[in-house]
Amino acid sequence: MNNSVQKNKEYKKYIVDSRLKYFKPHATKIEKTFAEEISSSLDRVNKSIHPKFFYDKNGSDLFEKICSLPEYYPTRTEISILKNLESELDTFLENDFRLVELGSGSSTKTRLILDFLTSTQKNTEYFPIDISEILTESSEELLNDYKNLSITGIIDTYEGGLEFLKTYDDKSNLIIFLGSSFGNFSPIDGYRFLEKVYATMKPGDLFLIGLDLVKDKLILESAYNDSDGVTAKFNLNVLSRINDELDADFNLSNFSHRAIYNENDQRIEMYLKSLVDQSIIISKSHLELKLKKDELIHTEYSHKYLLSQIHDLLDDIGFDLKRTWFDDKKYFSLTLVSKN
Ligand code: AVJ
Repeated sequence: MNNSVQKNKEYKKYIVDSRLKYFKPHATKIEKTFAEEISSSLDRVNKSIHPKFFYDKNGSDLFEKICSLPEYYPTRTEISILKNLESELDTFLENDFRLVELGSGSSTKTRLILDFLTSTQKNTEYFPIDISEILTESSEELLNDYKNLSITGIIDTYEGGLEFLKTYDDKSNLIIFLGSSFGNFSPIDGYRFLEKVYATMKPGDLFLIGLDLVKDKLILESAYNDSDGVTAKFNLNVLSRINDELDADFNLSNFSHRAIYNENDQRIEMYLKSLVDQSIIISKSHLELKLKKDELIHTEYSHKYLLSQIHDLLDDIGFDLKRTWFDDKKYFSLTLVSKN
């Protein structure tokens, strides 16, 4: 039998009050997926751990720290671009748009858009889609600060959340996907993901995507090898998470962080390098993982783009290009597209 879990996914609805609710797939399903995915991605010659697993509570906190590191230019740069485009948003936002955010992440960026929406709309709706429950914390603060805001959180993967949104209602959506999180996808998965976003959108809906641009290798590599070792901690944290949640016995001191820029494929590649020959038991994945000294576990790709590639890609999917904004140094870009 063909099991299309995604389509039949059951969500549990939690109503906190009239302005705040959550949808969450049944917990057992998430846990099962984690154990299974880890077992299949580590039980091969080329071992990997999917970057979405970075973001438990600790990982999300570490990522927030990365965002303010001097070497990590993307967050700072994207915020500066958002500040500039705020004044232009009204030309594009004529309808009563609901804000949908993929990977709700840092609320600093969301706030820049909410500042605009809540000041021009009577009631503003915000739908953050995030796999991490960190969104339950940031929501409370947003509701305190914006009195005409209501929040519906979807605690799920992007794909799950988009599927959920597709049949939700007829209101116009402004979907935002910031921080170059899209860069995590392989080109083929990224393409499929954009097709999914496109399919979710109704005519008139808008999509704003933040993408990191190709630049000097040294700047790129230091952004992922910061001098405080926060990125290293962030990378290694996924092993602690597996220890805690899947009953494993990774010894973190037997691994080191590695991040290099692959110029050919235009991406940062992040790995956890095994420092010794070792064997790890991951109980809930029913796996005994054997690693050789110097063997790498791949944990993340972070693709960088040329403006022409961004435009070609979005155009190929069928989107209508509205506008691209960037900073003075052309380090980072924000592109707004619509579906007609
Ligand atoms: C959240 C995927 C955009 O790729 O720059 C930061 C994650 N990893 N430092 C990125 C990350 C290491 C980040 N994204």
